Amino acid sequence: MEAAKPRILCVDDEPFNLDLLEALLVPRNYEVIRSTNGRDALLLVASQKVDLVLLDVMMPELDGFEVCRRIKENEQHRSIPVVMITALTAKGDRVAGIEAGADDFMSKPIEPTEVLARVRMLLKVKGLDDRLRHAYTHINHLTTCGEQIAKAFDPLHFDFLENMDIIVRQLMLVAATEAERPGLVIVGVSDVDGPRQYRYEVDGGVVRREALRSDSLHCPARKEDHEPVTTFSNGNGLETSDNQPVIKAIESLGRTVHNIVSYHSNELYVYALNYDRDVTAHDAAALKALVVQTLFLRSLSGQVRDTENAFDYMVHALARAAEANDEDTGDHIIRVGEYCAVIARAIGMPDSFSSLIRLQASMHDVGKIHIHPDILRKSGKLTPEEWGVVRQHPLIGGRILGDHVRLGLASEIALSHHERWDGSGYPHGLRGERIPMGGRIMTIADQYDALRNMRAYKPAFDHETTCRIITEGDGRTMPQHFDPRVLQAFRETAPQLEEIYEKMKG
Ligand code: C2E
Ligand code: SIN
Ligand code: SIN
Ligand code: FE
Repeated sequence: MEAAKPRILCVDDEPFNLDLLEALLVPRNYEVIRSTNGRDALLLVASQKVDLVLLDVMMPELDGFEVCRRIKENEQHRSIPVVMITALTAKGDRVAGIEAGADDFMSKPIEPTEVLARVRMLLKVKGLDDRLRHAYTHINHLTTCGEQIAKAFDPLHFDFLENMDIIVRQLMLVAATEAERPGLVIVGVSDVDGPRQYRYEVDGGVVRREALRSDSLHCPARKEDHEPVTTFSNGNGLETSDNQPVIKAIESLGRTVHNIVSYHSNELYVYALNYDRDVTAHDAAALKALVVQTLFLRSLSGQVRDTENAFDYMVHALARAAEANDEDTGDHIIRVGEYCAVIARAIGMPDSFSSLIRLQASMHDVGKIHIHPDILRKSGKLTPEEWGVVRQHPLIGGRILGDHVRLGLASEIALSHHERWDGSGYPHGLRGERIPMGGRIMTIADQYDALRNMRAYKPAFDHETTCRIITEGDGRTMPQHFDPRVLQAFRETAPQLEEIYEKMKG
């Protein structure tokens, strides 16, 4: 897109003076707009883009000082350079001009070379000032966008495309003015899920994403060892070998490409196209910053997920190690976690608690690691001494798991899963609400699974018998052992527990 000519507003009550300025400036590729009084001049400044004002001082009604003062009072117009042209050489006029905020002065009669030199210099300063402000606006938007992405960042549920959507929405909608925004964005991702390409466009104030047919665009993948490349190009510089496939694809949609900002790595490319102005290194830097942030978050999310998986793995490894002395109970530790999650959801605990208990419940019996297999595998009834030993396992478990924040629920469950609502449980004989919720849920999940399985000391019971023992009691187990809320949740979810048992009995 061709850069617009600088527009110079010339203000003088003498049309002849305006003719002179026009004759001087127009052939040098400046656009001149003219006004013969201060009031009209202010209206012109307010209604169109003006890059420079050449302002006569001596005018009827509003004089040059007043016009200058009003321009400089206005936040939006303050950066427009104002040159005061005065016939007077009196020092007092210059002082008044400086106080009114004038940027420069020229004397009448005007000296053509002087006018041209000053105009050129002031427009250059104005250009630099504009670029600085443009850069500042960019940084502001980038920061806002970065904050948004960081706020939405959930390392365990990070979705690359969702993040791309946030970035593109930022680029296409939130940037300060329409000219700051690309009209079209193309994103291509190539990873373990294969190559995908998307086109974003604004439609009725909303950014729409559309998947492109994979054969409609063939951006050359960068080699593994190549650094990512960020580019921007306007007009004639567009047709680089990298840009060609994108330009072809856009043209095949019946559209033309005016300018391109791109980020291109071996796994991702983002092309922002058709800004309503020439694109600059700032646009490229802005795009790069956003993309790099997303790639960083994706990598961070991958690392957090790896660590989480390792944590889950270690939790199960510990739970299994504790089972070594016990009877073979198959996937008991996995099943009880599933029961707990289902029951927790049924009593209205948040999903986060449900996921947490699914994993941490598996360690409820780690304390059995210190109990001799001769006791745990004994086929007959336990002697009072043996029973005294077995009853230690919640305390031992609580000690093993300790007080690490990440194991808080596990520790609580290990310690309290044999407490009973009526206070007849062990190790502390806690009653009612004093038993942590995790323990109240676990005790019912544990007994359901123990009853369903064969133990050295008992046969396996079917689902109906097990439910009857839990809900009606058999003397050893009684309904008053359970939190009524949890018992109700057990009744409601019993079919789901049976399903889990059948699927995972191994
Ligand atoms: P476990 O075998 O995993 O059983 C867990 C819980 O399920 C028991 O906690 C109990 O509440 C329930 N449960 C298990 N079998 C039956 C049953 O036949 N009828 C009823 N009504 N409930 C049952 P409890 O009683 O605190 O026992 C804790 C652990 O002590 C048991 O874990 C097991 O390892 C051991 N244990 C308990 N009784 C005996 C036994 O008679 N012989 C042997 N060898 N071990 C036993
Ligand atoms: C931004 O990233 O917020 C600015 C985008 C642009 O102006 O091109
Ligand atoms: C509850 O009682 O609802 C929750 C308390 C807990 O998580 O221990
Ligand atoms: Fe136990």
